[in-house]
Amino acid sequence: MENSAYALEIRDASKRFGGIVATDHVSVKVKKRQVFGIIGPNGAGKTTLFNMITGVYSPTEGDILLDGCSIVGKLPYEIACSGVARTFQNIRLFGELSVYENVHIAYQKNMTYNLLEGILKTKKYQEEEAECAKRCKEALEDMGLWEMREHMAGNLPYGMQRRLEIVRALATSPKVLLLDEPAAGMNEEESADLAEIIKGISKKYQDITILVIDHHMDVIMRVCDEITVINFGRQLATGKPWEIQNNQEVIDAYLGVGD
Ligand SMILES: Nc1ncnc2c1ncn2[C@@H]1O[C@H](COP(=O)(O)OP(=O)(O)O)[C@@H](O)[C@H]1O
Ligand SMILES: [Mg+2]
Repeated sequence: MENSAYALEIRDASKRFGGIVATDHVSVKVKKRQVFGIIGPNGAGKTTLFNMITGVYSPTEGDILLDGCSIVGKLPYEIACSGVARTFQNIRLFGELSVYENVHIAYQKNMTYNLLEGILKTKKYQEEEAECAKRCKEALEDMGLWEMREHMAGNLPYGMQRRLEIVRALATSPKVLLLDEPAAGMNEEESADLAEIIKGISKKYQDITILVIDHHMDVIMRVCDEITVINFGRQLATGKPWEIQNNQEVIDAYLGVGD
């Protein structure tokens, strides 16, 4: 049900782990089809935000809404079924399986045929498998990984493994795609390529809203429509890339630090 201009809203959310305040009254409104960036140094609370959006943790205070509906208290798989997909800061692929198999498994979520229909290879099974094959191919082609489909995922160069993670997330046809440090460990050229890929996804998958965490300013500045800066769990500023770049508080607290 489409009832909100916002794909995602975080309303005054806080998350405490014992004495640690990982998220301190954060509020974010992400419009549909935006690419929204979250930046901040290590330990700022960025991944905790994603963990709350995906139901891994519930906020200690505040609310999180997907398309206008609160998701607090829902289970991670329920939230995934409502169209939220993520990649992780640490790569989580099936290293022993082929590139193609990794994407095929991720797509299974969209299949509705049952075991018997699968064994009997009914028309429904054949149609769904054909659609799956088409979608997997398309997603792999979009990310420049189609040629590598037979390769074992664990043997791919690091940058390609990161891209494969994004293909896996895309294969579930998400409405909201969360990318946690997709450029981590990449060199300058690879992260520039990645920025183009993210822009390409946003353009091609018209209904998708993307949130990207990174602590590399260049990637975030290049791809995001809007950005929020987090430091020690607190929001320092939210705005367009140029506003963030010129915000004195951000410059003092973050841009001066480097990494
Ligand atoms: N499950 C947890 N238990 C205790 N502390 C945690 C947990 N998850 C995150 N934290 C703490 O919360 C803070 C923010 O972590 P995180 O969200 O991973 O930061 P970031 O992704 O910005 O580097 C850190 O101090 C981290 O140690
Ligand atoms: Mg993190």
